[in-house]
Amino acid sequence: MSWMLWWSLSLSASAIVIMAHGGSNVTYDSRSLVINGKHKIIFSGSIHYPRSTPQMWPYLISKARAGGLDAIDTYVFWNLHEPQQGQYDFSGRKDLVRFIKEVHAQGLYVCLRIGPFIESEWTYGGLPFWLHDVPGIVFRSDNKPFKYHMERYAKMIVKMLKAEKLYASQGGPIILSQIENEYGNVEAAFHEKGPPYVKWAAKMAVGLHTGVPWVMCKQDDAPDPVINACNGLRCGETFSGPNSPRKPAIWTENWTSVYQTYGKETRSRSAEDIAFHAALFIAKGGSFVNYYMYHGGTNFGRTAAEYVPTSYYDQAPLDEYGLLRQPKHGHLKELHAAIKLCRKPLLSRKWINFSLGQLQEAFAFERNSDECAAFLVNHDGRSNATVHFKGSSYKLPPKSISILPHCKTVAFNTAQVSTQYGTRLATRRHKFDSIEQWKEYKEYIPSFDKSSLRANTLLEHMNTTKDSSDYLWYTFRFHQNSSNAHSVLTVNSLGHNLHAFVNGEFIGSAHGSHDNKSFTLQRSLPLKRGTNYVSLLSVMTGLPDAGAYLERRVAGLRRVTIQRQHELHDFTTYLWGYKVGLSGENIQLHRNNASVKAYWSRYASSSRPLTWYKSIFDAPAGNDPVALNLASMGKGEAWVNGRSIGRYWVSFLDSDGNPYQTWNHIPRSFLKPSGNLLVILEEERGNPLGISLGTMSITKVCGHVSISHPPPVISWQGENQINGTRKRKYGRRPKVQLRCPRGRKISSVLFSSFGTPSGDCETYAIGSCHASNSRATVEKACLGKERCSIPVSSKNFKGDPCPGIAKSLLVDAKCA
Ligand SMILES: *[C@@H]1O[C@H](CO)[C@@H](O)[C@H](O)[C@H]1NC(C)=O
Ligand SMILES: *[C@@H]1O[C@H](CO)[C@@H](O)[C@H](O)[C@H]1NC(C)=O
Ligand SMILES: *[C@@H]1O[C@H](CO)[C@@H](O)[C@H](O)[C@H]1NC(C)=O
Ligand SMILES: *[C@@H]1O[C@H](CO)[C@@H](O)[C@H](O)[C@H]1NC(C)=O
Ligand SMILES: *[C@@H]1O[C@H](CO)[C@@H](O)[C@H](O)[C@H]1NC(C)=O
Ligand SMILES: *[C@@H]1O[C@H](CO)[C@@H](O)[C@H](O)[C@H]1NC(C)=O
Ligand SMILES: *[C@@H]1O[C@H](CO)[C@@H](O)[C@H](O)[C@H]1NC(C)=O
Ligand SMILES: *[C@@H]1O[C@H](CO)[C@@H](O)[C@H](O)[C@H]1NC(C)=O
Ligand SMILES: *[C@@H]1O[C@H](CO)[C@@H](O)[C@H](O)[C@H]1NC(C)=O
Repeated sequence: MSWMLWWSLSLSASAIVIMAHGGSNVTYDSRSLVINGKHKIIFSGSIHYPRSTPQMWPYLISKARAGGLDAIDTYVFWNLHEPQQGQYDFSGRKDLVRFIKEVHAQGLYVCLRIGPFIESEWTYGGLPFWLHDVPGIVFRSDNKPFKYHMERYAKMIVKMLKAEKLYASQGGPIILSQIENEYGNVEAAFHEKGPPYVKWAAKMAVGLHTGVPWVMCKQDDAPDPVINACNGLRCGETFSGPNSPRKPAIWTENWTSVYQTYGKETRSRSAEDIAFHAALFIAKGGSFVNYYMYHGGTNFGRTAAEYVPTSYYDQAPLDEYGLLRQPKHGHLKELHAAIKLCRKPLLSRKWINFSLGQLQEAFAFERNSDECAAFLVNHDGRSNATVHFKGSSYKLPPKSISILPHCKTVAFNTAQVSTQYGTRLATRRHKFDSIEQWKEYKEYIPSFDKSSLRANTLLEHMNTTKDSSDYLWYTFRFHQNSSNAHSVLTVNSLGHNLHAFVNGEFIGSAHGSHDNKSFTLQRSLPLKRGTNYVSLLSVMTGLPDAGAYLERRVAGLRRVTIQRQHELHDFTTYLWGYKVGLSGENIQLHRNNASVKAYWSRYASSSRPLTWYKSIFDAPAGNDPVALNLASMGKGEAWVNGRSIGRYWVSFLDSDGNPYQTWNHIPRSFLKPSGNLLVILEEERGNPLGISLGTMSITKVCGHVSISHPPPVISWQGENQINGTRKRKYGRRPKVQLRCPRGRKISSVLFSSFGTPSGDCETYAIGSCHASNSRATVEKACLGKERCSIPVSSKNFKGDPCPGIAKSLLVDAKCA
């Protein structure tokens, strides 16, 4: 129940907490941003408004706030807002103003990265495709047409936000803006056109008079007063610092994971590693950390960049569906709480660092004897270290930082996770496994004779479709005098997929990958005597989003030959016929439209490549997030009630033989209680009878806390930065705390051992020391409860099972 209920609760709450106050003065100095005269340590998290729905925003923001964030960071997505030059769209998921107001209502700041180039694994890096056709344009350089449109766009966005009074200087939540994005990576490629562009962009941005500072990330030469910032995994170790002694150290993208492309193994970053680098950055005097992403979400429709999957940063502290990804969310929350307890000494500027050993060091911030905070760092990734600091000794696990808010007690260690682990599981709620449930439409295979667009050459894919579709047909015909002559067709393409048909028959597919877009399809041709028709469907799975000179990128077919006996016929410069898009797209098959119904026929289970399928389903009861399991399919796109839930590409396996993604999120707000229309375009030979509908929930929680180095538990309710209310609790006893999602209860204890259990929350076993009443004690404390807390002490287990030995408690439990 948690989801819907939370959304509506947050919605009504937000209506009450509208803040009325005057403008804040946002400036900065070498220590930090200064808001209304106060120095601030700010933890921020990226949540991109179009990657979720307005119905999800209040919930996501509330969970970010509960995680101890002070600010939400988002890009602004130019190509969503100006799909055609001069035509603007800020509706639904594109409602930037509504998103910012929601963040404000929950008392958080906003960092706005207006681009206009954003990369962000977003199609064309956020630039509208029509820019490609502006005469003489060179993106992101000292180029008149580009600067003209960039300035027009930046002014339009800033004007809109000012009109709504959303800048801090006007009483709104926006405290920081970013212009450009990671330009330092490409600046050299623009030679003498690079540096003047940076200067111009900074001047133009500052000239918009937002009253709040601007940053440029990965831009060591950001001109004053624009702040240069770091992006990456390890800014604590690698960032060379601000480029002026008057600027603070800001980390605009602290990557919580690494973005994925199809065919790559899923990679994730551990909660411990993220916490280590964030703490190190703060220890070294950093004052602003943004987690990229805090919630990744979903690349709906065709918004993902080339080869980028629909699910975005599912490994972030809030997963694709907005469910807490534990222990990441909880571990970072404790980190933020521990650092906030150090705030006064941290901001006092009196800090020193000194060595505590070969690979150990201390950072101490001390204003006076009452106000002292320390970060004890063990850089050694292999061994525990015992260090001495101010007369006490401290044990530091490998690669970890202990945070001591009063220079005495350890409030938090980055490597000791006391937060529970959660396991997400899909519950199947509906099967589409009978042929009566489906109708189909076989996509029409066009032939040269019917093509209206013709050219004596192979056209570039993007320049021909203008991104109105992923699909472009390349067709030609030729005459064959003899029968049964053995022939081989060879097609070279620069992306991204190719499906080949000869005389209406499918002969094969091929595709490239993110790292090598170039690929070749080679097939024997079943030619007949007389005229033969070759129809090649080139498919792009998103537009490029990175690198210099984006406007010069090319995709689609590059060379086509047919080998007949000993003759090689080159068709590269030949008379080609083109068709942009699929017939099913042109008649808008994904919509529930009376005029469209006529095209559908009974399901025939022939599974020819390029077939559309449709079915009707009811929304699963309850409020858990809904997703469609497409594991039985190949590649394509899916729509629910006319709205695209994104592409899928299940057949693109990684080197371990796994698809990256098999579930596509269907936001609850896309659904009505019954009669929902599902339409799927399948490019390959997927089996729709294997599709099912499921709901996602946290079904298992697990905690592992040791008695020997008890991380004193801090709980701290996200500070409301703007409003200033704060609550905190600062306890010391080690305990395992378990909590099922709202409305679910612990239904069974799968494992419980107080003693020396081996392993972790993923695989565990009883060790040589085990209290026999472990299970009974935990069951008594937890069964039937939504949350429970079990002290990790011998007393709680009625005696010490192995005196003198370091013990821990590991509990794994099921939520139902
Ligand atoms: C902002 O701070 C500057 C410098 O301290 C000061 O001159 C200005 O009056 C302040 N503006 C507001 C609106 O408080
Ligand atoms: C930045 O991100 C990295 C990786 O996600 C993490 O280890 C580090 O703690 C983060 N630092 C900050 C300041 O967010
Ligand atoms: C203090 O920290 C700085 C920056 O990380 C480093 O260059 C320097 O070596 C450190 N000093 C000591 C004594 O560890
Ligand atoms: C570090 O110490 C803990 C006990 O406090 C022990 O369980 C662990 O094995 C040690 N790790 C290493 C790498 O020595
Ligand atoms: C793009 O297509 C137009 C015709 O629509 C053509 O004039 C132009 O040269 C093409 N540009 C590129 C870069 O291929
Ligand atoms: C097929 O025959 C026609 C007429 O006899 C001739 O013009 C053409 O060149 C031949 N084509 C091939 C590919 O041999
Ligand atoms: C990319 O793949 C093609 C095969 O289609 C191969 O010829 C080429 O060498 C590859 N390029 C790189 C850089 O790996
Ligand atoms: C049905 O779709 C056609 C385009 O295929 C469109 O012109 C028409 O307005 C649609 N009708 C409804 C009721 O949506
Ligand atoms: C901050 O919030 C608290 C509790 O919601 C409220 O009592 C207080 O008036 C608020 N303060 C301001 C300045 O809005």
